[in-house]
Amino acid sequence: MIIHGGAPLRGTVSLSGSKNAALPIMMASLLTAEPLTLRNVPRLRDVKTAMELLGQLGVAVRWTGEHDVELCAAKISSHEAPYELVKTMRASFVVLGPLLARTGRARVSTPGGCAIGARPVNLHITGIRALGSKIQFRHGYVEAHAEKLTGGRIWLDSPSVGATQNIMMAAVTARGRTLIENAAREPEVQDLARVLVKMGAQISGSGSHVIEIEGVEKLHGAEHEIICDRIEAGSMMVAAAITGGDVKISNAPVADLEAVIAKLRETGVRVEANGHGLRVARPATLVPIELRTLPYPGFPTDLQAQMMALLTQADGTSVITETIFENRFMHAQELARMGADILMKGNTAIVRGPSELCGAPVMATDLRASMGLILAGLAAETATELSRIYHLDRGYEALDAKLTALGAQIERVKDDSL
Ligand code: EPZ
Repeated sequence: MIIHGGAPLRGTVSLSGSKNAALPIMMASLLTAEPLTLRNVPRLRDVKTAMELLGQLGVAVRWTGEHDVELCAAKISSHEAPYELVKTMRASFVVLGPLLARTGRARVSTPGGCAIGARPVNLHITGIRALGSKIQFRHGYVEAHAEKLTGGRIWLDSPSVGATQNIMMAAVTARGRTLIENAAREPEVQDLARVLVKMGAQISGSGSHVIEIEGVEKLHGAEHEIICDRIEAGSMMVAAAITGGDVKISNAPVADLEAVIAKLRETGVRVEANGHGLRVARPATLVPIELRTLPYPGFPTDLQAQMMALLTQADGTSVITETIFENRFMHAQELARMGADILMKGNTAIVRGPSELCGAPVMATDLRASMGLILAGLAAETATELSRIYHLDRGYEALDAKLTALGAQIERVKDDSL
């Protein structure tokens, strides 16, 4: 992807459905033999991978509209989530809970590490064991069996999003009551809980530290509209700010963006929030800030790379601390190649600004890092060439078209050096 910088972005953009809500909700289709109809599903590589995985398990999956998907697990024909699929998309690991709840057994490959960290699944396993399942590790696979899951009380050492979702989906038809304490509070966890309740589950407390689930006999089909993507929203807000533009985000989930709005306002960016969206404009100068990524409702780790790009333009020294993943600063070296001044000390990055960004050939290392590099490219003097943009297509739908419509000059070219 070639990004020609310098144009302030102006206009209105609308967000796609949330990748991180859609993926676990699609896996919930395994919990019933009746159809689950989803709207506002983003057309992404990860959604395609999830469809492939569910298809292999016997779920009938099809697009019924531009962003509508129907899933029906009338019968489950396999209990195995293979390594080939799970290694490309860690979110696949949340098939464990629903598969086990529906059929009494599951063989799911452990995800293995990725660019941003080791991505262990110990909290998932501990939680599902607490519901009475026998689980063992063999040849890189988790093998779980349970005649009938029984409710239990689970304390999560850290509020893991995936573990909360996996345990929630295992518990909805378990016998008795389940308490998940120190549960993740992310909007994507809340959206999954909303779908499960529509399917007949009894869940209270989602969005708080304690989720209570009363097991029911069985679940039925449902219809649901996926929430909009708050990480795409934050990415577009930074795009407006870093280019000195003025952008409206028509369907921004304002209530889920409090930390993001607060931190952007702290840098001096003007953010107007009204009932149906956000308007973001950049001031003459940006103020440096201290930023820590935290579990929701704290500042999201998935927007850390984007904020680092912005803070290279602030008047002074900013400090970014990444508390969620152990290796999520790889974009910093690439930003430095574009002229940014960033010093790393463990999980802290010291960003000195403002620095003149100039285009360079840079490489995407993970989904959110690639967005951070595009944002830097939009602010850079000359053209930036971003390679390995398959990372981008995993999580942003029609990003080039959206940014181009706001005035960005971006093109995709075939990398014939590959
Ligand atoms: C979800 O990943 C998101 N992915 C991630 O978004 C997001 O960064 C992350 O939550 C944190 O918000 C999806 O929803 C598909 P975690 P998840 O379990 O569930 C440790 C993106 O770019 N941990 O909350 O895997 C783990 O190593 C992606 O869209 C354990 O130690 O995140 C990490 O350091 C990237 N043991 C921390 O917790 C476990 O059993 C947070 O992980 C599980 C997690």
